[in-house]
Amino acid sequence: MIKIAPSILAADPLNLERDVRKMADAGADWLHVDVMDAHFVPNLAFSPAVVRRLRQATSLPLDVHLMMDRPERYLDVFLDAGADLVTIHAEIAGDLTAMLDKIRRRGARAGLALKPGTGLSAAAPFLSHTDMVLTMTVEPGFGGQKLNAEVPDKIAELRKRGYTGEIEADGGIKEQNLPMLLEKGLSVAVMGTALFREQDPTEMIRRLHEMG
Ligand code: DX5
Ligand code: ZN
Repeated sequence: MIKIAPSILAADPLNLERDVRKMADAGADWLHVDVMDAHFVPNLAFSPAVVRRLRQATSLPLDVHLMMDRPERYLDVFLDAGADLVTIHAEIAGDLTAMLDKIRRRGARAGLALKPGTGLSAAAPFLSHTDMVLTMTVEPGFGGQKLNAEVPDKIAELRKRGYTGEIEADGGIKEQNLPMLLEKGLSVAVMGTALFREQDPTEMIRRLHEMG
């Protein structure tokens, strides 16, 4: 069954605990936490202190998406804070294998993210060091963007090449375009705007889970 991961970038920052509890009660599977450094992406979002408090506030797996350069300096900080999955971007400099192995060595699951314009060749050398590939369906940095229609075929291609780990998509996902992503082999859908705007997220998540 598809896993639904609300992205708290779309939550009300002044009522984060309320919104997180609402999504957990609504049947969300993971909680997607965007971390942005205003360098790798032109935006700033969520700190390790927030992840620490989220860990105390919910038992949902914390899916931490590091949209940052030099994440190796912060892996221990986010892992200590309670991250269950830590995803780094394939476009950054540094020893990706060492970073992915470290995340796993510390008992969390390791993810590798690809921007829409980054081909699978950038991920190929690292796939055996990952538990998840995050195929960004928007340019990272902001919620509320339109899904990039070129990306779903990347998901299908990854499955065709035999990747059996989680494949997560992130950005512009809504009830109307999720079936197409499922057909391509998606296993985790990050949803920010579409979910947080919804009057009845419980009903919506039930419909999304029924899709497959
Ligand atoms: C964008 C973030 C996404 C975003 C999802 O850089 O990684 O997680 O918050 O946003 P929506 O679902 O609102 O497009
Ligand atoms: Zn994200």
